[in-house]
Amino acid sequence: MQYRKTIKLKNGKSCIIRNGAVQDAPAVLENFILTHGQTDFLATYPEENRFTLEQEEAFLKRKEEHAREVELVAEVDGVITGTAGVDCISNAEKMRHRGSFGISVDRAWWGLGIGRALTEACTECAKAAGFSQLELDVVAANTAALRLYESVGFVEYGRNPRGFRSREKGWQELVLMRLALAE
Ligand SMILES: CC(C)(COP(=O)(O)OP(=O)(O)OC[C@H]1O[C@@H](n2cnc3c(N)ncnc32)[C@H](O)[C@@H]1OP(=O)(O)O)[C@@H](O)C(=O)NCCC(=O)NCCS
Repeated sequence: MQYRKTIKLKNGKSCIIRNGAVQDAPAVLENFILTHGQTDFLATYPEENRFTLEQEEAFLKRKEEHAREVELVAEVDGVITGTAGVDCISNAEKMRHRGSFGISVDRAWWGLGIGRALTEACTECAKAAGFSQLELDVVAANTAALRLYESVGFVEYGRNPRGFRSREKGWQELVLMRLALAE
């Protein structure tokens, strides 16, 4: 899917929310590894990244050309500060209405409006792609993410008390959330 929008951040800078393109692959990989080492709230550790540069390029190309999926980047002053995306949960007829959402922003850029812009852009894309429900799992202690998701309309539909097992914190409870995009 294609998407592009420029927004103003809380620090006055312009931020472009757009598709990650093939030429962004090095920066997107770098951002992935960086952000996954900055928080204990993501599903994997940085060293669990399995993408080579070539695989990242192919991934971004596939997402750009995909009819329903999207991988967005937030670019400020030429720097990739965060990424977010929408994936199909299944192409089976009974589950085609369900999309999944994921996001991470470089800690150095938190609190400026990038997370909200990426989230709203992804919900817009998910709606345009015909998903009627967008889903995510979030660590219960991840207050910033929970507030953000609730503010755009996600609601809790369950919990998994042992969703993650963190090296440092042990069990992490996951809150399962869904956003209705259509009847
Ligand atoms: C969650 C995350 C994406 C938010 O990104 P961000 O760019 O800091 O978010 P924004 O500045 O757009 O803030 C959006 C909302 O989040 C909430 N929020 C952000 N920082 C917060 C904080 N420190 N405390 C409480 N709420 C906070 C607020 O509701 C805020 O609303 P506002 O627009 O009215 O200020 C970012 O912290 C992140 O990448 N965290 C690590 C990865 C992660 O946890 N991903 C989600 C996995 S489910």
